[in-house]
Amino acid sequence: MSIVITGNPGVGKHTITHEIAKNLELSIIDINETAKVEGLLEKNKNTNDVDTTKLKKVLEGKISEKNIVVGHLAPYVLEKNKVKIMIVLRRSPYDLITVYKERKYSDEKSRENTGSEILGIIAHDAINEFQEKVFQVNTSEKNIQEVVEKVMNIISGDKCDEEVDWLELVTKNNDLKKFFVD
Ligand SMILES: Nc1ncnc2c1ncn2[C@@H]1O[C@H](COP(=O)(O)OP(=O)(O)O)[C@@H](O)[C@H]1O
Ligand SMILES: [Mg+2]
Repeated sequence: MSIVITGNPGVGKHTITHEIAKNLELSIIDINETAKVEGLLEKNKNTNDVDTTKLKKVLEGKISEKNIVVGHLAPYVLEKNKVKIMIVLRRSPYDLITVYKERKYSDEKSRENTGSEILGIIAHDAINEFQEKVFQVNTSEKNIQEVVEKVMNIISGDKCDEEVDWLELVTKNNDLKKFFVD
């Protein structure tokens, strides 16, 4: 069983995963990297489609308690009995816009990912599949060290799940159109 870090692109998965891996002397299994190495990425225009059935099989053979697994696909490609804890990092869509600009995402790709974060799709799907093993951490208004501490506490047994509702925030700010309409 292993620790898993997931969430939308830009929430801080890789940054946090490296710190936790260092602290706990775990080796990192990067889901996207694994898919690439195994030739399971099908390139379609701007997006990568993944054969999740095959990827699930490959990962099942790799994962042990010595690993920390990272990737936005985690909820869709892992077996519950292989997962000790699944941390879903959540980040304000307003912060994500900045990250996506730096990464030069297209408007379409940026909107797709902020939309997914606002609706909490990965968190919803993770909870659906992994229930009590899932903990959300809000990374906005926390520095990297604070997020690492929070995640370390959860790994040590602290049952603290942070409620996140970006939809409420975006609605209150009258920004639904900004995120969901061209
Ligand atoms: N808690 C945080 N506060 C501020 N910036 C952060 C935090 N965590 C990560 N970052 C920054 O956000 C960007 C995206 O982080 P990254 O780890 O690449 O995300 P992901 O792997 O989820 O795509 C990086 O520039 C990183 O330095
Ligand atoms: Mg990353």
